[in-house]
Amino acid sequence: MHIDVLTLFPEMFSQVLSASILGRAIEQGYLSVNTYNIRDYSVDKHHRVDDYAFGGGTGLIMMAQPIFDAINAIDPEHTAKRIYLSPQGRVMNDAKARQLSHENRLLLLCGHYEGIDQRVVDTLIDEEVSIGDYVLTGGELPAMVMIDAVARQIKGVLGNENGADDESFANGLLEYPQYTRPSDYNGLPVPEVLLSGHHKNITAWRRKQSVLKTALNRPDLLDKVQLSGDEERMVKELSALQDTDK
Ligand SMILES: C[S@@+](CC[C@H](N)C(=O)[O-])C[C@H]1O[C@@H](n2cnc3c(N)ncnc32)[C@H](O)[C@@H]1O
Repeated sequence: MHIDVLTLFPEMFSQVLSASILGRAIEQGYLSVNTYNIRDYSVDKHHRVDDYAFGGGTGLIMMAQPIFDAINAIDPEHTAKRIYLSPQGRVMNDAKARQLSHENRLLLLCGHYEGIDQRVVDTLIDEEVSIGDYVLTGGELPAMVMIDAVARQIKGVLGNENGADDESFANGLLEYPQYTRPSDYNGLPVPEVLLSGHHKNITAWRRKQSVLKTALNRPDLLDKVQLSGDEERMVKELSALQDTDK
């Protein structure tokens, strides 16, 4: 997959793209990322990229011209899926990351200040995507979040075939608790069953823990998950207990 990022702060990306799993994915050719400075496309003699908002209001808006010229130069045939990272977009989730991981090419547009001229969004952008219901100062961190979430879904990036299939959200639930050595840390033991070597019991324990954790922290996710009769009863008992605690 190839990703083009349009930003006013390309220097923010270098550390994130060179470290750990993303760095290795790029080194091994699973992913390539180019960053472009939108300011380089400004025709203003001072390379200005923002101006006041028509209709009033505080803060500056990123102007249409540099972004139009940048996108038309970088993706003239519109072969990339063009995404504007924006708090006004649909909120990204695991399914979205998986879906985007099948694209050959993405173009990510990062806004800054009070956002960008709406004519860019209306004319050049395929999709607005948010990373959550809060407002950040710029689209750079959201773009990095998206690159990370998408890259780890590309087959081979995590190094083992079903790496991302065993994690939170993959089967609709949050992941079960995990432990590593030592089996007893300062009197805090690991659950017995995990040391038993009994795979069927371990799988059953993990499933139960997943359902419980999801019911506790993200009950909204359970609407889309097929639970067994026993699991349904367990979730009902838990929510009744929570109700009496209130
Ligand atoms: C301060 S924000 C602009 C917010 C805009 N005035 C509004 O109220 O919707 C500046 C830029 O940060 C990025 N941004 C901020 N929050 C974001 C989020 N939750 N998801 C994705 N991008 C975000 C966008 O690229 C946006 O253009």
